[in-house]
Amino acid sequence: MEPTELCRIAAKTKACKPDWYTPAYHRFFSEWCDRPLRLLEIGVYQGGSLQMWREYFPKASLFAIDINAETLQWNGKIRDCKVTLVDQGSPEALRDYVAKTGGQFDIIVEDGGHTMHQQITSFNVLFPHVVPGGAYVVEDYGTSYWTKFGGKALNAPGTSVSMLKWLVDCINLPLGMDDDHAKKWGESSVAVSPAERASLRSDVEAMHICNSIAIIFKSATRVSKPASYQVEEPAGLMTRLRQALRRAG
Ligand SMILES: C[S@@+](CC[C@H](N)C(=O)[O-])C[C@H]1O[C@@H](n2cnc3c(N)ncnc32)[C@H](O)[C@@H]1O
Repeated sequence: MEPTELCRIAAKTKACKPDWYTPAYHRFFSEWCDRPLRLLEIGVYQGGSLQMWREYFPKASLFAIDINAETLQWNGKIRDCKVTLVDQGSPEALRDYVAKTGGQFDIIVEDGGHTMHQQITSFNVLFPHVVPGGAYVVEDYGTSYWTKFGGKALNAPGTSVSMLKWLVDCINLPLGMDDDHAKKWGESSVAVSPAERASLRSDVEAMHICNSIAIIFKSATRVSKPASYQVEEPAGLMTRLRQALRRAG
């Protein structure tokens, strides 16, 4: 793959970005380099990516969260960059963080603990705080196929890959699935029920998917009808639980 400017910076700062991630970033964000962005990254580790973003987006304000207190060492070492201890798996902690920082992020890069719960919780809580026209990146969603991260069989609900498939439905909401279409052509012409349509976000414009990295673009113009990816219980789990409770008396 053609090395980009971002590849060179990533190699220098030792960012944990596989060599096909940086070309994807460069392809979509090279024209954003001179903007005064607000960029939040989840997952600091040894500071490699924060130093990379600092150089690539010189006018950006950088925000980062991690659960490892050692990452606080980067405060004061990288210009206009604030690291805060926040657990990405806690919706309350994320909401509190957004309230304190003011949210309104142009780019969110999610490169934290990579479990299904963390990736899905972070997306559901933080995507609403991406500005219209901004982007949310899920790195390493390939952990959907690894049991130790909570991954499951193909097409099982509750994985990050299944959330990304839900986003495909969200992207297509205005084309053939919206209420106007149902009014014009009749409810029976739409295969998706009103309740299912209501479970989709209306503000997802596009998504770039490649091996283990997804870049999700928020529409600059579509009205936001909030909805979250719902993690469904695996089939039969509730039934088995009820049976076990009955047996236990
Ligand atoms: C893959 S490393 C980040 C690498 C860094 N973004 C880079 O490219 O150089 C993952 C980081 O996520 C942090 N992390 C793990 N679980 C987390 C959680 N629940 N909330 C926030 N950060 C978490 C880890 O402490 C670690 O620093």
